[in-house]
Amino acid sequence: MPAIVLLGAQWGDEGKGKVTDLLGERVQYVVRYQGGNNAGHTVVLPDGRKFALHLLPSGVLTPGCIPVIGNGVVVDPKVLLAEIDGLAARGVSTDNLMISADAHLIMPHHRALDRVVERYLGSARIGTTGRGIGPAYGDKVARVGIRVQDLLDPGILRQKLELALREKNQTLVKVYNRKAIDVAAVVEEYLAYGERLAPYIKDTRLELARALDRGETVLLEGAQATLLDVDHGTYPFVTSSNPTAGGACVGSGVPPTRINQVIGVAKAYTTRVGAGPFPTELFDENGAHISKVGAEFGTTTGRARRCGWFDAVVARYAVRVNGITDLVVTKLDVLSGLERVPICVGYEVDGTVVDEMPMTQTAFHHAKPVYEDLPGWWEDISKCRTLDELPDNARRYVERIEEVSGARVSVVGVGPGRDENVILHPLLP
Ligand code: GDP
Ligand code: IMO
Ligand code: MG
Repeated sequence: MPAIVLLGAQWGDEGKGKVTDLLGERVQYVVRYQGGNNAGHTVVLPDGRKFALHLLPSGVLTPGCIPVIGNGVVVDPKVLLAEIDGLAARGVSTDNLMISADAHLIMPHHRALDRVVERYLGSARIGTTGRGIGPAYGDKVARVGIRVQDLLDPGILRQKLELALREKNQTLVKVYNRKAIDVAAVVEEYLAYGERLAPYIKDTRLELARALDRGETVLLEGAQATLLDVDHGTYPFVTSSNPTAGGACVGSGVPPTRINQVIGVAKAYTTRVGAGPFPTELFDENGAHISKVGAEFGTTTGRARRCGWFDAVVARYAVRVNGITDLVVTKLDVLSGLERVPICVGYEVDGTVVDEMPMTQTAFHHAKPVYEDLPGWWEDISKCRTLDELPDNARRYVERIEEVSGARVSVVGVGPGRDENVILHPLLP
């Protein structure tokens, strides 16, 4: 089997972790290709145990599956080790984890700058997770980043950190009135992390190429989502990496010619955490219903997620830029009990109706949703496993999502558990 990409089709938290877990044993490698511990993926195992993963790919919960942190990820080693220890304490082994030697590190100055810059931006802030993601990627692109492999060479680590802090400390102290960061203390702290992480550090792109040559299945698991992509998302209200399908190649070293399937995960409605435009956002009792029934609070920061109706313009866009072959529509169960379930099929922008994403960010800010009004359903659907078992209106809602999104719906989520799905087409043979 070639490589498969799994990614978010909206603004994140679509349930990607659950879908990776669902693919389970049919996948031999699960690779994170971008992002860092800004991600929060909740997985509920059949025995009821619930896990929140941040840096480790969701495949870590499947016995035998090899979890890989690809070169495109930014790694906070302290967080990673805490996650490894946390899983070990619950009986989950991470012994077969592989971390790319080329992944970049999140350093204390990245975390400090993320928080201080957000404060400085005031009402123009992005609402980041404060984990140092943007500053770490900024340094990567500016070629002053520090990589996982540098943990293995104390001389290089010190040299690179001295160079970085020469500038960052000036910024922290003189621009933001913060304390300078001590080079020696950080070198000591990070060398200790390096000692523990050393057995996991690998040439992951070579490992993955060999796995594919052996005919094994490699799942490239996206964090964040299409509309949070730094190139294709609602810039500047985005994350600093490329969650879209192209990013899967860059962030793993797996070439596009080896990918034959792109699974897009979308909620049956829409949520967004942090600032930025969100045309279908709800401020009424329907939004309150979704927030409450869907437990829409962030896995990473605990912030309340903004909630709104399903946006087919966004879904079509995600299908187009990612080449989505299969859609997984999650959390349909959350919509049970609503009188109407409108779907946004276009936008009115300054008096003109459009059905594609507007070209400019200004136009997107002005976009007012044009709704198609569908009738709701009242039944508990969490026990449904086939399309025929769904109430008529829920089935019509799914069919309409498929029509307006332009990709086939293969799975519909009706609960957080691994088995709580309506399967229309098997995701893997
Ligand atoms: P991710 O970041 O895309 O992996 O998603 P999160 O884990 O941050 O958020 C998705 C939440 O929805 C998690 O709490 C999941 O357990 C839950 N979830 C996933 N699919 C379903 C579903 O079909 N129904 C319900 N009720 N919850 C779901
Ligand atoms: P998962 O993988 C939802 C959002 C933040 C903020 C913006 C930039 O769980 O779907 P950052 O800290 O990345 O610089 O913040 O991106 N964001 C997410 N929103 N789910 C996520 O991850 C997110 N990761 C970042 O809220 O608006
Ligand atoms: Mg999440």
